[in-house]
Amino acid sequence: MSTVALKDVTKVWPDGTMAVDRVSLEVRDGEFMVLLGPSGCGKSTVLRMIAGLEDPTQGEILLNGEPVLDLPPRDRSIAMVFQDFALYPHMSVADNIGFPLKLSGVEPGPRQERIGAVAGALGIGEVLGRRPSQLSGGQRQRVAMGRAMVRRPGIFLMDEPLSNLDSGLRAELRAEITSMTRELGVTTMYVTHDQAEALTMADRVAIMRRGILQDLGTPTEVYRRPATLYVAAFLGSPRMNLLEAQVYVHLDRYVALNFGEQTLYLPWSDPRSRAVARYHGERIVVGVRAEALTPVTPETPGAVLHGRIRYLEHHGHESLAYLDVGATAIVVDEIAGATPGRQPGSGALKKLVQRLSRPAAEAAPEPGGQVSLLNDPGRHHRKPAELSVRLAPYPAVSHGHPLSVAVQMDSVHFFDERGDRIDVGWR
Ligand SMILES: Nc1ncnc2c1ncn2[C@@H]1O[C@H](COP(=O)(O)OP(=O)(O)O)[C@@H](O)[C@H]1O
Ligand SMILES: [Mg+2]
Repeated sequence: MSTVALKDVTKVWPDGTMAVDRVSLEVRDGEFMVLLGPSGCGKSTVLRMIAGLEDPTQGEILLNGEPVLDLPPRDRSIAMVFQDFALYPHMSVADNIGFPLKLSGVEPGPRQERIGAVAGALGIGEVLGRRPSQLSGGQRQRVAMGRAMVRRPGIFLMDEPLSNLDSGLRAELRAEITSMTRELGVTTMYVTHDQAEALTMADRVAIMRRGILQDLGTPTEVYRRPATLYVAAFLGSPRMNLLEAQVYVHLDRYVALNFGEQTLYLPWSDPRSRAVARYHGERIVVGVRAEALTPVTPETPGAVLHGRIRYLEHHGHESLAYLDVGATAIVVDEIAGATPGRQPGSGALKKLVQRLSRPAAEAAPEPGGQVSLLNDPGRHHRKPAELSVRLAPYPAVSHGHPLSVAVQMDSVHFFDERGDRIDVGWR
């Protein structure tokens, strides 16, 4: 049995950088846990502390329920694959894979047997006699994994092991890594900045931002009920539409969400209406994924937004329309560019667009002089919303056409000014 637990683990580097800020999480026996976050958020630091390459400034790390801070790396039954997976260039593939066994004194006979088994499982049985320079990138990565697996570690740590490979190979190796670790039942912690990779591979995903754990759950849980605005914006492609809304409570009827030119209504029968009603007169963020929007005829009653198509993207199996509905979008700066989909315009163009568009509304100052997240230009900013909508592959509409979309209100997400989910007893 192999488990990993972090209890309030903090790492502050000598220069004062807070790389990891009170992170607590448990990886269950045999689980494939993915640690997801943008570059610099502290993922590698977490792995390195688990492996024993760095000491936490504060907090506890437990392996199999036992504190390990006094245990040197080689006694932790951990194997780690790094992003640059350096192989020994002068050794054959077989010797590279078998090197950890040789170090620990395993006899040549059983050693060859283990090397053969691991290489077979990784599909590199044919190249055991070659040198690393005679291998493709994908084969080299497999050798690095083989070298890590050969000692049958209890815990497998992988730090962005696929990020140097091209996308086709990455998809192939993703599936191989998960099936291999599941077959072996080895407890795995896998680091990536790629949200698609995290969602496809993980049993559970832990999402980090600036050293802080933001959310933890199965891919379905974090995708369907993201704990914070940041997680909502990070997961999924196209990205979740995040619209600024002003809340108005009509006691006898509903809670109105005003987006500037248009309004959606949350009936009192909706279990979330009371939580949202507490923000009467204030601004919140309403999140709507493309799959919660369905094109309809303009006369359709109910929760419908009307707009005009600003861009249309053809993706082969579907098209994405970007709809101007006269609303203001919230952009979470840190993740712009971290996920695929249409990117916000580049510097100069973006500024021009902002200048030409109507001025963004001023957010209400927070009591106590605190700056709210949405006010902090380093983290979020506003721009005219372009609501992404999924359409059939070659739609009859094009740029400039009007389009109406029905909003599936029970799949809409609400976040407050600080970026926390507004909900009753979430998850
Ligand atoms: N040895 C170090 N000394 C000082 N700062 C470091 C060191 N290693 C990492 N950092 C800083 O700690 C933060 C987290 O880094 P890291 O864990 O490597 O992030 P990630 O793996 O998510 O990209 C970053 O701000 C990084 O610059
Ligand atoms: Mg890293």
